[in-house]
Amino acid sequence: MKYTGIINLAFESSCDDFSCAVLSKGERGVEILSNIVYSQDFVHGIYGGVVPELASRNHIKASLPALRIALKDADISLKDVSLISVTAGPGLVGSLLIGLMEAKTASYALNIPLAPVNHIEGHIFSPFLETGEKFPFIALVISGGHTHLYLVKSHDDINLLGRTRDDACGELFDKISNYLGFGYPGGKIIDDFAEKGNAGAFKFPLPMLHSRNLDMSFSGLKTAVISAIDGLGGPGRINENMIYDVSASAREAVAAILCKKTARACEAYRVKTVAVSRSVAGNSRVRSMFYEYGRENGLDIIFPPVRLSTDNAAMIGYAGFFKTALDPVKNREEFLNINADSSWEL
Ligand code: KG4
Ligand code: ZN
Repeated sequence: MKYTGIINLAFESSCDDFSCAVLSKGERGVEILSNIVYSQDFVHGIYGGVVPELASRNHIKASLPALRIALKDADISLKDVSLISVTAGPGLVGSLLIGLMEAKTASYALNIPLAPVNHIEGHIFSPFLETGEKFPFIALVISGGHTHLYLVKSHDDINLLGRTRDDACGELFDKISNYLGFGYPGGKIIDDFAEKGNAGAFKFPLPMLHSRNLDMSFSGLKTAVISAIDGLGGPGRINENMIYDVSASAREAVAAILCKKTARACEAYRVKTVAVSRSVAGNSRVRSMFYEYGRENGLDIIFPPVRLSTDNAAMIGYAGFFKTALDPVKNREEFLNINADSSWEL
């Protein structure tokens, strides 16, 4: 196939997914031509969390097949590529290095520029991948490691407004699921249980809701949920309907904290657009509560499709279009010095 615009080959390997995508940017805007994700849930599930060494070893196995299939799905060959984007951090250093080295090698061999991308930036812009962004917006990034609010005025102007002071919201779901004996990752499990339960059955605390800043906290809520489970007989004894009610009430509390803090950020900075991203953005109650709030308060609420809310290279390619790319020959020294930065702060 022949494309006239920029063809961007993107890699993402910051945690336990290896992903490779091809995007084009031309008269019709940005298009995703392919987006391959090799997940490793089956590798880490039995350990109750991601094992870094196993993640990087499995990335090595996935790295070339993912590239081959991404090119084939996009119906292009390597010589059609004009830009390479890659996650350079934050993440697990061993995991990051596999994608980064593949990207650097391809960039060097093909003599085309390389754009190092911050993984969180990839998530922040992911809700706009299929529509184009509307500045300014409030970005809420929610996952097993993140519960962060940002004010985004442009691609280069991103400011952290508030964050969780303890557990991330996804971590809270994982801990409840683990405690009940349903394993990791627990977010989707608790979300599915919650669909069958009564969200008003338990009144859980909403920590830091009335504090003036935009920080959040989930650890007190986790303790309250665990105490409620213990009060109902504890793991293994609590009856099924009670599990559904506890799940629904816990999910309601998490969604309310996220929604109220985001609303406060919108008021404080007079912003009317909200972009919610990362894995917990797939939570059904988080989505419905934000949409309801947006409708009632005149806010434009944007979520990525669920397939783009988990880790994927398409979002890295999208952010890569707006980054300064380094040429392997003209910027040789800088190019050779690009390294994985496991704690790269935005
Ligand atoms: O982005 P991700 O793969 O890893 C990191 O966060 O680093 O996200 C996984 C997290 C886990 O905490 C998982 O329980 C949570 O996202 N999660 C969900 C849902 N799907 C995944 N939490 C709530 N509802 C969901 N539907
Ligand atoms: Zn991620």
